[in-house]
Amino acid sequence: MTTTTQRPKGHDGPIGRPLDRVDGHAKVTGGARYAAEVPLPGLTHAVLVGARVAHGRITSLDTTEAERADGVVAVLTHQNLGKIATQPRLLPSLAGSVAPGETFFPMQSDEIHYAGQHVALVVADTYERALHASHLVRITYAEEPSVTVIDQGRDQAYEPEAIFAGFVPGRSERGDVATALDGAAVTVDRTFTFAANHHNPIETSATTAYWEGDRLTLHDATQGVTATQHTVAALLGIPHTRIRVIGHYTGGSFGAKAMVWHHPALAAFAARAVGRPVRLALTREQMFFGCGHREEQEQRIALGADAEGRLVALRHHKLSPTSPFDHWAEPSLGVAGQMYACPNYEGVYRLIHAHTMTPTFMRCPGEATGLFALETAMDELAERLGLDPLELRLRNCSDTDPASGRPWSSSGLRECLRQGADRIGWARRSAPPAEDGDWLIGLGMSASAYPVYGPYNPQRARARVYADGTAVVQAAVTDIGTGVLTAMTQVAAEALGLPVERCRFEGGDTDLPNVAAAVGSSGAGMVSAAVHTAASALREQFVARAVADEGSPLHGADPADVVVRDGRMVLRGSPGTGEGYAELLQRQFLPDLEATGSWGPPPQDAPYASMTFGAQFAEVAVDPVLGLVRVRRLAGAFAPGRVLNAKTARSQLMGGMIWGLGQALLEATHMEPGTGRWANASLGEYLVPVNADAPDVDVDFVEVADTVVNPLGVKGVGEVGQAGVAPAIANAIHHATGRRVRKLPITIEDII
Ligand code: MOS
Repeated sequence: MTTTTQRPKGHDGPIGRPLDRVDGHAKVTGGARYAAEVPLPGLTHAVLVGARVAHGRITSLDTTEAERADGVVAVLTHQNLGKIATQPRLLPSLAGSVAPGETFFPMQSDEIHYAGQHVALVVADTYERALHASHLVRITYAEEPSVTVIDQGRDQAYEPEAIFAGFVPGRSERGDVATALDGAAVTVDRTFTFAANHHNPIETSATTAYWEGDRLTLHDATQGVTATQHTVAALLGIPHTRIRVIGHYTGGSFGAKAMVWHHPALAAFAARAVGRPVRLALTREQMFFGCGHREEQEQRIALGADAEGRLVALRHHKLSPTSPFDHWAEPSLGVAGQMYACPNYEGVYRLIHAHTMTPTFMRCPGEATGLFALETAMDELAERLGLDPLELRLRNCSDTDPASGRPWSSSGLRECLRQGADRIGWARRSAPPAEDGDWLIGLGMSASAYPVYGPYNPQRARARVYADGTAVVQAAVTDIGTGVLTAMTQVAAEALGLPVERCRFEGGDTDLPNVAAAVGSSGAGMVSAAVHTAASALREQFVARAVADEGSPLHGADPADVVVRDGRMVLRGSPGTGEGYAELLQRQFLPDLEATGSWGPPPQDAPYASMTFGAQFAEVAVDPVLGLVRVRRLAGAFAPGRVLNAKTARSQLMGGMIWGLGQALLEATHMEPGTGRWANASLGEYLVPVNADAPDVDVDFVEVADTVVNPLGVKGVGEVGQAGVAPAIANAIHHATGRRVRKLPITIEDII
């Protein structure tokens, strides 16, 4: 695997260095403590029981046997759990406030809305005893007819006013698509189908809860501690200031822990009921029924182009099941409608109320599916036009956001397309395709993009330098495996002028200054803005004290002439004149100095739009007789703005690309329509790429300077690495075999 990272010329500070993870040692030695590993005196263990029907009512509930089982402390059901105070409305966790995964809370009545819905919680002195007793809860149901897949509910489809918790309109239009399609020189009109997907982080969702009087502490596996805090507060009806949420380590998530599902509040209810700490960890199977999923979907795309291949019309419709409660669809039409210049556009979401839980964010939520439809259709358009697919993309690149008409704050899309093409050797793409024994070889490509989310509320951080010359910098961000703690250590060290070894970054605790949850590829940009602002303010405070202090060698100097190197404030051009942070603090009898920093939100009427762009290229080998597809190479070029840590950024992008391979060829959750249950709810049957599936992955960077997104120009790398991989692979399969597959995942039956 190869990577190129360019650092700004002349820059030798900590930002951008491929620093090893600051939490790496703790993670690989078992020193890192996850939410389900916190030792507490008197700890009890809770196990959930899920409904066995998709729709209906509980007709009888017998907990006698479970209650009598060894070690059982309590069995909670809708009859004795207690009522929630309010059911908060759906809101993305990005805002750092209330963010329930669905506007329904279980165990409040005898109604069943989806299979697996929590119906009982068994608490015992050990996990094994709780698990055993959970099988002794006897429940009977009156079952009613259910709808769980698109094919059962097609005739009930409706057009919602808005989707995605109300943030995305159900319909968007510009120009006149029907007329433009009629007048187009070439058109492509195709339907694409997508299996449901589940996130499957290695750490299953878990909460450990305990009360001290009226104060609640939750150790939670989450993408955002503040979101957990506010959601549980609303559900329990207590002030959020009485709840502390700690999430120092989160073992992967991919969106499963973005919204706050039911188990943190259930753990709090249970801990209150038994008067002891409660640990509630979902089983692997329960991860398929307890924290959302990427919905099954159908998308239809119609493209119209003029004879030179310039798009004149794009019509994009999506149909998908949502829960009985919420109008949720992942926003598949967004980025696909902003990728290329196109004057006439129509995007429409249609939903079916189904007996499943509310779907949720799953890595690259919407972009990954929408771009599969768009970029596969673009490949087909190129074929119709007799144009090279790369050339077709280059002809349609736009310097402005086609949706808002505003210029991109930075792009780099053309450079990514050209650079990625060089890396894969696009020039050797020839028709007819090459062969290697029984294998047909093909090359395919796709453009890639992911939104840059700005802050909904001020992003805050705190920086402190102690009299021993070390610093601690804090913000409530959670590291879900991205390396954000490491990157923020670098940002803090650079702004303070300290070596990284003397900086410690702390996150994952609601007692720390609030920043957005680790969602939407926004962590690096938003948290770095707060950390940079706080650390810069502290550096300025030190310099102001030094120049005002008669005892300082810098007394009387212009603060603008003072720079900090290795913790020493020195005069620019005269590095012998100055003093260290520690010296100043000791002379002034100060144990430490501290500053907070706050950044954003930027004005709503900003005259630009922001997007992270990239390009994906794939080389596949296909055995058309056996239906096998092997991805031999992936090459991606990305323009994510400032890279904070070359190693962790590359890892994020590489992981995204391999995840895209999984989306293309492996990942599918199958609904069993008779029971409304996910039929393959295990890591044995839900397939994800393993090392043997992972090809040679080439991650390349295109440098773009973005001066408007945030102070450091960071656009994020969490999800753009996945966008466009699946269509690049599908297009490569077409190049190799002539077969056009319009469904994900692409399996053996689609090839033979
Ligand atoms: Mo991520 S799918 O934006 O939580």
